[in-house]
Amino acid sequence: MNDATPRTPHVETKLPAVGTTIFTVMSTLAAEKGAVNLGQGFPDFDCDPKLVQAVTDAMTRGLNQYPPMTGVPALRDAVAAKIEAMYGRKYDPAAEITITAGATQAIITAVLAVVRPGDEVIVLEPCYDSYVPNIELAGGTVVRVPLVPGTFRPDFDKIAAALNPKTRAILVNTPHNPSATVWTREEMLRLQDLLAPTDTLLISDEVYEHMVFDGQQHQSAACFPGLAARAFIVSSFGKTYHVTGWKVGYVAAPASLTAEFRKVHQFNVFTVNTPVQHALASYMADPQPYLQLPAFYQRKRDLFREGLKRTKFRVLPSEGSYFQCVDISAVSKLGEADFCKWLTTEIGVAAIPLSAFYGNGFDQHVVRFCFAKKEETLNTAIERLAKL
Ligand SMILES: Cc1ncc(COP(=O)(O)O)c(C=O)c1O
Repeated sequence: MNDATPRTPHVETKLPAVGTTIFTVMSTLAAEKGAVNLGQGFPDFDCDPKLVQAVTDAMTRGLNQYPPMTGVPALRDAVAAKIEAMYGRKYDPAAEITITAGATQAIITAVLAVVRPGDEVIVLEPCYDSYVPNIELAGGTVVRVPLVPGTFRPDFDKIAAALNPKTRAILVNTPHNPSATVWTREEMLRLQDLLAPTDTLLISDEVYEHMVFDGQQHQSAACFPGLAARAFIVSSFGKTYHVTGWKVGYVAAPASLTAEFRKVHQFNVFTVNTPVQHALASYMADPQPYLQLPAFYQRKRDLFREGLKRTKFRVLPSEGSYFQCVDISAVSKLGEADFCKWLTTEIGVAAIPLSAFYGNGFDQHVVRFCFAKKEETLNTAIERLAKL
């Protein structure tokens, strides 16, 4: 008989660089200190009660069992109709649209479906924190290309220099988290030209597609035939309908790419919860909620930017998304991360350092605030920041 103490076998980590994210660190600190949390990107207001009622109705009607693997047909139809109306490209809801458990699952599923060991994948830094671990889990090699420091515009010479026959995919995010830049039509055309002679796929993270300001238009990859033909276009109902906790999104991609995507999707989540899908399908019949979203968030952005004029921060442009970046140089000599901890603890407002979105922790004295908050929350934050 073996009476040795049971022992959990050692596991060599697959993701040595991954620890607790700065978002969790800052949210925990904000809660501890009673700070206004403008760090993590989520609304502090509720969604349309009609949407909640639609979920209740679906559950009451007994729509509680597995939906089709690819998503409820009515929701795939609604997504295809929306993309056609907004961007003029027709996707076949049966073969080219898949409902996912948020954009996060959509992105990792696309990466796992197409990236093999030895493949290179380009990310444009600063970038959303799931991209790099996703590529590493697939065995791919991460190729980091910086957006231009200061303006956060794409640097096409550097992208061109990074592209080579091993480049399986490039991840692009517009409107952009964290910098709040929005790619122009000219920039999308440049990308299309660069990728045209290659076999590189595009994973186009468009979760903030309905938050673009000052009359500018979101340039979806769906608008550009040469991009759409090679793209997994990812969006998130969480962002669009103020329901980040529901974790439902979608992917639109040509049939051959969708077929590969679904092979992985089938065995990592299989499908996404039924009543929310039915609710979203009926709610999408009215385009007004997403058509009014730019004006809704532009008001919040303007209120926040107006308030920031009372501080010594240099306020950077915010063209889209629900983020506002500021340069802290005139306020503090601390590094970004230390500044954010100090700001949370001493001033009572949480922000996120941009260095968290770079592999090498590049510090340019810029921090990110999220303005997806009630007016009163933004006003309280401004009152506190005005003391700086
Ligand atoms: C750029 C970007 N991509 C993807 C996501 C994830 O979206 P979801 O909550 O639908 O998984 C986020 C959420 O913050 C994001 O900012």
